[in-house]
Amino acid sequence: MTLSSKLPIPEAALLEQYGEEARLCPCDNDQIRLVFSQAHPFDLVELEQLLEAVGWSRRPVRRVRKALNHSLVTVGLWRHDPRIPRLVGFARCTGDGILEATVWDVAVHPLYQGNGLGRSLMTYVLDVLATMGTERVSLFADPGVVSFYQRQGWDLEPQGHRCAFWYAS
Ligand SMILES: CC(C)(COP(=O)(O)OP(=O)(O)OC[C@H]1O[C@@H](n2cnc3c(N)ncnc32)[C@H](O)[C@@H]1OP(=O)(O)O)[C@@H](O)C(=O)NCCC(=O)NCCS
Repeated sequence: MTLSSKLPIPEAALLEQYGEEARLCPCDNDQIRLVFSQAHPFDLVELEQLLEAVGWSRRPVRRVRKALNHSLVTVGLWRHDPRIPRLVGFARCTGDGILEATVWDVAVHPLYQGNGLGRSLMTYVLDVLATMGTERVSLFADPGVVSFYQRQGWDLEPQGHRCAFWYAS
């Protein structure tokens, strides 16, 4: 199944490095290229460093590896380098991908925040889930981040609190 994404498709060399479903993340700085990938492997220490940089506690690498292996979708946002790309954003989803999926661990590195990357990350994640045919997507927002999702069209439930749902139709 080919990803039908709203985001730009990169050139062949990047598709080779990051996988056929890689997409470019729009970015104001034309000195750097940012790429969403489901295929580029993670260095789990680098991933935990990213999540630590946004203020979350470290988790044992072995357990994180298992969690990633059991995830429905894992998305890395990479600052492109032909040799050593840097992980600057991340999100993953669990679920069946048909009736339900839940988004977890949405993070953009603090140095890259405030430039629309988080919004593009959610666009990419929802594009992937829509391509799978997922009917309903949920997530549990941290208290300070609820409006980040709300502005992108997520419905808050129940009664406008922390649980947000995205309905495909
Ligand atoms: C939340 C996060 C992913 C947003 O990434 P980002 O790249 O800074 O977000 P963007 O620049 O794409 O912002 C998109 C919009 O959301 C708003 N926004 C960004 N962070 C926000 C926050 N924490 N709370 C509310 N709104 C926020 C922006 O102002 C922007 O608004 P606009 O549409 O009016 O321009 C990032 O700040 C992050 O990693 N935070 C720490 C981890 C975290 O809390 N993750 C979410 C767990 S539920």
